[in-house]
Amino acid sequence: MGSVCRRDWQKKYVGRSRVALKPRTTEQVSELLRYCSSRRLAVVPQGGNTGLVGGSVPVFDEVVISTAAMNRVLHFDEVSGALVAQAGCVLQSLDEFVGQRGFMMPLDLGAKGSCQIGGNVSTGAGGLRLLRYGSLHGSVLGLEVVLPEPLVPTPAPLPRAGAGAGDGLGSGVGGKGSGGDGRVLDLLRTLRKDNTGYDLKQLFIGAEGTLGIVTAVAIQCAPRPASVQVALLACPSFAAVTATLAAARRRLGEVLSAVEFLDTAASTLTTAHLDGVRNPLVAETAGGGVNGGGWGEATGGGGEVTRGSAWSPASSGASGGPFYVLVETHGSDEEHDRQKMERFLEAVMSDGCVADGTLASSEAQAAAIWRLREGIAEALARRGAVYKYDVSLPTSGMYDMVEALRGRLAAGGFGPEAGVAVVGYGHIGDGNLHLNVSAPRYDDVLLGLIEPYVYEFVASRNGSISAEHGIGLMKAGALSYSKGPVAVQLMRAIKAAVDPGGIMNPYKLLPRI
Ligand code: FAD
Ligand code: MLT
Ligand code: ZN
Repeated sequence: MGSVCRRDWQKKYVGRSRVALKPRTTEQVSELLRYCSSRRLAVVPQGGNTGLVGGSVPVFDEVVISTAAMNRVLHFDEVSGALVAQAGCVLQSLDEFVGQRGFMMPLDLGAKGSCQIGGNVSTGAGGLRLLRYGSLHGSVLGLEVVLPEPLVPTPAPLPRAGAGAGDGLGSGVGGKGSGGDGRVLDLLRTLRKDNTGYDLKQLFIGAEGTLGIVTAVAIQCAPRPASVQVALLACPSFAAVTATLAAARRRLGEVLSAVEFLDTAASTLTTAHLDGVRNPLVAETAGGGVNGGGWGEATGGGGEVTRGSAWSPASSGASGGPFYVLVETHGSDEEHDRQKMERFLEAVMSDGCVADGTLASSEAQAAAIWRLREGIAEALARRGAVYKYDVSLPTSGMYDMVEALRGRLAAGGFGPEAGVAVVGYGHIGDGNLHLNVSAPRYDDVLLGLIEPYVYEFVASRNGSISAEHGIGLMKAGALSYSKGPVAVQLMRAIKAAVDPGGIMNPYKLLPRI
């Protein structure tokens, strides 16, 4: 087995598995789970392996079951837009497939070229347009899931993460089991309405492979918009960002499809590390570099209004940033949507919420703006070590978290001079902040300053320690910051009922007892 299946996308977590299996059919998955249940072999389901919390890779020598070869579209209803696909279909391929039929996938994310629909469902991924198209808890119509065997005699205790190398369940502890059936839970319906008791499919959305293996997904696609408008705006303060969001909701209403934000640190880092990516609101330096190319607290730049844009602010020479807001609309009438967008832009300009901006006048310009936003994760990964936090917080005070951490780290000797950048960006329209600390290398003293501080901060504001990336291995020990004891107890009871042998993705999601 190559390191591809053993190591996560960020190259932060690595296990020691020697076995990665790639079934093609549900029956093969069922056979594999039956075998693993009977031998009490621990299993890690793996999709595109783009998860950001260490959920998709083994901790020890668990058996990796990859859905990469389960990549067939099973059915598409061109009237309703209901798509049924095997779990291993890559999100972008599905979007292209339904795109040829006038539809779009209801979710989109920067990892679309590699992540799989089964992985998206299992993480409960949010993405760039949740604001408009809702979460997977609404758009998933049905699932097919292979469950582990219900009964395993005399389960042996699980080894604890960190208890020593190569002592995982994969070595076959527990002896021979009862020989179950590798149960297939068939919930693969495409109905919009099905009010027949417990909505079991919801349990598997965001279960992170701890309850079973999703083998097929039925999902509601949306009509592909005939008209798309994308603007990038520079706001002078975070209060101006939230006022711009409120204005976008009010003035763009039913056509609004995304409101994303990034701070200057995120913009600077991304343009410095990704070839060909630039912030159109920041002037290039005379030497041809972009944004100074430095780390730490970059300046906003020259604030030039983008050429070729259909809209520009009344005043020229306004400075870019320190915050950038991406606003997108999806509609059916180009002229109507353009007018709406222009009125919105005029309003936020005259209110002083927006100091500078550009409205894409071609698909290429729109894609370039999106590339700046979507490229942040990749740029961070290229720069070095990344401590990634993905939190939900009340929107108005959300950026306090970034500023507080920046101050705390600087005071502890981990400021810009130490090569540490604290970066804030995310799905502001959904109250979701991505708080990232980029450093030259992983450092336990630095980590000690970040955790549990970040989790305590989030809990003190009634936020969530995971808005969309899930819990995985990274946050299993921190679950109680967002879930009370009764909720955790119920989660454990569900896990025990569905996976009594505890073979499904051990050490992930639930805290160790
Ligand atoms: P994997 O990483 O392979 O697995 C993720 C989890 O699901 C693991 O716990 C795994 O065990 C489990 N799993 C996978 N497949 C199955 C299955 N068939 N059955 C049961 N369990 C399974 N997330 C967002 O929410 N929003 C974003 O905007 C976003 N952007 C991203 C951008 C980049 C560049 C990257 C690298 C990641 C991003 N993510 C984002 C993280 C996101 O969770 C994943 O990209 C995606 O949802 C995971 O899909 P995957 O197929 O790669 O799953
Ligand atoms: C994003 O919104 O870009 C993704 O969730 C990835 C990340 O948080 O870096
Ligand atoms: Zn995100």
